[in-house]
Amino acid sequence: MDTDVDRDAGATGLPAVVTAAHRRAESVGFGYSREPLTGRLLATLSAAVRPGGRVLELGTGAGVGLAWIEYGLGGRSDVQVISVEFDEALAAAVRRSGLPPGFDVRVGDAEKLLAGLGTFDLIFADAPAGKWTGLHLTIAALAAAGVLLVDDMDPGRYTEPDHRDTVDRIRRTLTEHHGLVTTELSVGSGLIVAVAR
Ligand SMILES: C[S@@+](CC[C@H](N)C(=O)[O-])C[C@H]1O[C@@H](n2cnc3c(N)ncnc32)[C@H](O)[C@@H]1O
Repeated sequence: MDTDVDRDAGATGLPAVVTAAHRRAESVGFGYSREPLTGRLLATLSAAVRPGGRVLELGTGAGVGLAWIEYGLGGRSDVQVISVEFDEALAAAVRRSGLPPGFDVRVGDAEKLLAGLGTFDLIFADAPAGKWTGLHLTIAALAAAGVLLVDDMDPGRYTEPDHRDTVDRIRRTLTEHHGLVTTELSVGSGLIVAVAR
């Protein structure tokens, strides 16, 4: 039977929980929420998380990524989901809207918190910390067979040479890492999916 979390239609063509998160983003003036293609892949990967597994998002924003994870989990409460956000006001807005069982938004610098969070079956690295800097900490937080999703990896999106170099460094770190099996997807903002061997 469909629940509110499962509902995937409506005027926007988005799951209801995602539409609600986009409304929240608008109401707090947050303009960096993830696009539907990344969100759908995040939902799909969330649906594959093992029973009793753990999911980590770096950079909560207004909670759009969390909403896609919630949609992907389809009401499961056996999975622990942690999202880390630097901005206290954003974290508070997401918490105020009500988090599903097993979901937790923590305030802090992702790079500083990463080492103490344990390992995860799925990580969405969507903050500067743990992606542009400290990527090794994120990789170290992958459980065996854990999946890492990174977006904004299309170098064509960047005009500054420094930014292009940084993207190139991230791509090479992930594609050349012996402990990872990695695929680059030239869609949307440029996605990379890596799985820990
Ligand atoms: C692209 S947005 C996240 C969007 C969100 N994941 C989504 O799916 O809609 C990046 C977020 O990272 C947060 N951020 C920036 N620096 C951070 C840090 N050092 N630690 C944790 N979060 C950080 C920003 O405040 C911002 O909310």
